[in-house]
Amino acid sequence: MKRLDGKSALITGAARGIGLAFAKAYVAEGARVAIADIDFERACEAAAEIGDAALAVHLDVTEQDSINAAVGQTVESLGQIDILINNAAVFTAAPIVEITHEDYQRVFDVNVAGTLFTLQAVARHMIERGLKGKIINMASQAGRRGEPLVGVYCASKAAVISLTQSAGLGLITHGINVNAIAPGVVDGEHWDGVDALFAKYEGKPPGQKKREVGSAVPIGRMAQAEDLTGTAVFLASRDADYIVAQTYNVDGGNWMS
Ligand SMILES: NC(=O)c1ccc[n+]([C@@H]2O[C@H](COP(=O)([O-])OP(=O)(O)OC[C@H]3O[C@@H](n4cnc5c(N)ncnc54)[C@H](O)[C@@H]3O)[C@@H](O)[C@H]2O)c1
Repeated sequence: MKRLDGKSALITGAARGIGLAFAKAYVAEGARVAIADIDFERACEAAAEIGDAALAVHLDVTEQDSINAAVGQTVESLGQIDILINNAAVFTAAPIVEITHEDYQRVFDVNVAGTLFTLQAVARHMIERGLKGKIINMASQAGRRGEPLVGVYCASKAAVISLTQSAGLGLITHGINVNAIAPGVVDGEHWDGVDALFAKYEGKPPGQKKREVGSAVPIGRMAQAEDLTGTAVFLASRDADYIVAQTYNVDGGNWMS
């Protein structure tokens, strides 16, 4: 028996990076996955790479119609949704005095409203079907404390931790476990973008910020996406049935709480 045999998962933002690693890990544990992403072309490539157990779905988490359609398409194709990972997110950086309302809105629309309303749509489906579902939100060490250049993203991830607590308490009465993962610094395209923003604001040569944050992690390196998959499988499995409203730090020792 694999740990997710017979389960169906919807993973947002799974066309690349951490979400894609989660999709592969879930399939390896026996699940079928919907790779839901605003970048549909890349979601199709990812699903084709994984094979028959993966389905590509177009999803913009900022649009309610798109959320409803993605949930509907996943249910139609996979039968039901036992597991949701709210993984889609965007990043921004700017000094506090330069933050624009537009940038703030974009980040909160995706990271906070996107998480809440995707969670809501899937939770309604789980309740309707009487499913003992698992919902995992992607938070961040950025949600644990502020950073001078990362105010908006940090605030959005603090909101994800808070929503995880409220949804965790609100949905466990329906048998749905809601928990979160707070990674530290994970190598990949996301961090290439972060590095470029720090190069701009801190005057560092490209690649330097990445080297600095990597060597500052107590374990001695940045994470690879695969370093997070064990926790994502665990939180989706029956082993996590008694875990409610928690945010797990998977960050090589960066944050203790
Ligand atoms: N990489 C890190 O260092 C790190 C650290 C802490 C937390 N996280 C969190 O982990 C998660 C995954 O990070 P990643 O590094 O793989 O990021 P990534 O930028 O590589 O991937 C994000 C994915 O989300 C998709 N997306 C963006 N907007 C969307 C929208 N409106 N609707 C649907 N999909 C959308 C993108 O197309 C992309 O495929 C995010 O929630 C991120 O905040 C990442």
